[in-house]
Amino acid sequence: MRNGIEVIERQNRERLSKKRRKHIDRVRRTAAELAERFGIRPGPVDIAAVVHDMDRETPTGELLRMAKTNGLELVRSDLDNPVLLHGPVAAWRLENEFGVFDRDIIEAVRCHTFGHTGLGAVGHVIFAADYLEPGRAYLTDRERSAILMRATLAEVVCAVIDHNRARYGSLDSRTAAMYQELTESGTWRA
Ligand SMILES: [Fe+2]
Ligand SMILES: [Fe+2]
Repeated sequence: MRNGIEVIERQNRERLSKKRRKHIDRVRRTAAELAERFGIRPGPVDIAAVVHDMDRETPTGELLRMAKTNGLELVRSDLDNPVLLHGPVAAWRLENEFGVFDRDIIEAVRCHTFGHTGLGAVGHVIFAADYLEPGRAYLTDRERSAILMRATLAEVVCAVIDHNRARYGSLDSRTAAMYQELTESGTWRA
């Protein structure tokens, strides 16, 4: 897959704006820090970070077409705002165009925007790193460090979701379900 990651990095250089590539670089660094701190395999985390937004600038008509043609699950909010399909489409391409079959990587890419119940450690790292990378203007440095210093990965993810809920006043149902799962799992402390 190291060769594969180079192909994807080249494709990102060709298809994504500089702004997006800088975001991806910051997600990689934040994800690598979280992975080291919580003892999670760094290789899959790095691949998922590089890939997670590879379709973020793909035209929405193309995202919808790919989702429909390839039988991806579509919910109401995806139809209202097809840019939300960039994770599922990237996950599909990773498996079908790049031949990556590591479930941890695929689910991390697919679910990076909203999370999902049953998401594994790689997925939790990418979900948190995407929200916490230092280019995000909605977080102060103080808030960012307070979240990053939480004792477990599950606590970091829950603190991200708490911040997100305070920002928007509500949560996507998939995010709410993941929060409930983590808070009930015993790996999270209030
Ligand atoms: Fe994204
Ligand atoms: Fe992202």
